[in-house]
Amino acid sequence: MSTGLFPAPARSAGVATPTAPGPVVGSGGTASGPLGVLGVPGQVNLDYAATAPCARAAADAVAELLPWYGSVHRGAGALSRRSTLAYERARQDVGDFLRVRPDDHVVFTRNTTDALNLLSRALPPGTRVVTFAAEHHANLLSWPAGAVRLPVPGSAGEAVRAVDAALRELRRGSGGGAPILVAVTGASNVTGECWPVAELARIAHRYGARIALDAAQLAPHAELDIAALTVDYVAVSGHKLYAPFGIGVLAGRADWLDAAPPYLAGGGATLGVGAATHDVRWVDGPARHEAGTPNLLGAVALAAVCVALAEADREALYAQEQSLLGRLRSGLAALPDVVELRTFDPSAPRVGIVSFVVAGRDSAAVAADLAQHWQIGLRDGLFCAHPLARRLLAEAATRSGRRDLPPTALRASIGLGSTAAHVDRLLTALSTPR
Ligand code: ALA
Repeated sequence: MSTGLFPAPARSAGVATPTAPGPVVGSGGTASGPLGVLGVPGQVNLDYAATAPCARAAADAVAELLPWYGSVHRGAGALSRRSTLAYERARQDVGDFLRVRPDDHVVFTRNTTDALNLLSRALPPGTRVVTFAAEHHANLLSWPAGAVRLPVPGSAGEAVRAVDAALRELRRGSGGGAPILVAVTGASNVTGECWPVAELARIAHRYGARIALDAAQLAPHAELDIAALTVDYVAVSGHKLYAPFGIGVLAGRADWLDAAPPYLAGGGATLGVGAATHDVRWVDGPARHEAGTPNLLGAVALAAVCVALAEADREALYAQEQSLLGRLRSGLAALPDVVELRTFDPSAPRVGIVSFVVAGRDSAAVAADLAQHWQIGLRDGLFCAHPLARRLLAEAATRSGRRDLPPTALRASIGLGSTAAHVDRLLTALSTPR
C-alpha cells in the first residue's frame, strides 16, 4: 500500500531522487489475512495479544519512508518538511481511526504503558483514580499512590455497580469535589472478555468523573469510537495493532494535558527558554509531551494500519475472528485436562484471547513443548496481570475441582493472520499424549 505522501521531490529542491526501496524487512515470510499480515512459514503464531505480527500496510509505509525521512519539526529542507507532514498526517489518521473529538489531543507515546503513565502525570493535583484489580499492570501500577483498586468483579453488571458505589463514596468523602478518573480496560489481556465501557463511562460522568480506556487489546479486534463511548481518554499500542514496536498513543481531553508539566522535558516541547534555570515556557498541544525527536517511522506505520483497518469490513473481520475463537474455545473445552480462565460468564462477549491451564502440567513446560515440537508460539505466565491471573487460577481450581492445576497459565491469542489450521494445530498438540 502506498501512503501517497512521498512523491518524488522536485529537482529544484536540490535533493537527489533515491533509488527504489529494497525488499521489505520480513518479506521473506508470508503475508496472509485481509491486511496481509506478515508471518514466517511453518510458524503458528498464537501470541497476538503480546505482539501482533506486522501488517503489510505498516511494512510498506516504513519501506516507502526510509529513503526519504528527515528531521521532524526541526528543519527547512524538503525531507524535513515532508517528514513533518507525514508525522502530523499520521496523528490525524490515528485520531480518525479512534474517532476522537475535534478538540482532543492525540499524543504519540512508546506504547500503552507509556500512554497511561503520561496520563497519570497529567492528573490535576488531588485526583482520585479508581480502577480494578483485573487490570493489566500498565493500568494498575501507573497510577499515584492512593488509587482505589476495586476487587475483580464476577460480571459486567457487578463492575458497573462497584464503580457506582466507589464514586458515590468518593463524592461523599472529604475531597468530594476533587477530580476523579476511572481507568478500565476495554478487553482483558488475560481472558479477552470485554468490559462494559459505555456503561462505566455513563456512571463516571454521572459523578462528574472522567474515564480512561486501556484499549490495547480491544482496538486490534473491534471498532473503537471514543466519542460514541464517551470515554475521555484512550490508550493503544502499535505493536498490538499490526505496527512495529515503540509507538503508542494517548488520545483524549486537552485541558489536563495542556495544564500538566511536560511528560518529557526537552527540545520540541518549549516555546522559549531563558537563561535562568526555571525560565521556560512550554507549548500546549501534543508536542508538550513529545520532547525529543519523535518516532516518525512508528507513527507512520501505525497510521497506515489504522487507515487499512478503517477501510476494511471490520464487522466481517470480527465475525471471522469470533468463529475462530469459538472453534478454539470449544476445542479446549473438549479436552479433559484443560480448564479455561474466566472472570465473567462463559458466554460474555470477548475478543480472540483465551487463557487456560493443563491440569497436572507445568505451563512453561507446555509452552516450550508447543514451541519445540509443534512450532506454535503462545505465552505462558501471569501475563503482566498478576492479581487477576492468580485470582482466576484459584477460581478455575474451585470450579474444576482439580487439585493439580499449575500456578501459571497458558494464553492463546488470535488475530488477522490466524486460520482454522492454526487453531486445530494447537488443539491437536494439546490432545497428543506426551
Ligand atoms: N501486555 C502484553 C501481554 O499481555 C505484553 O502479553
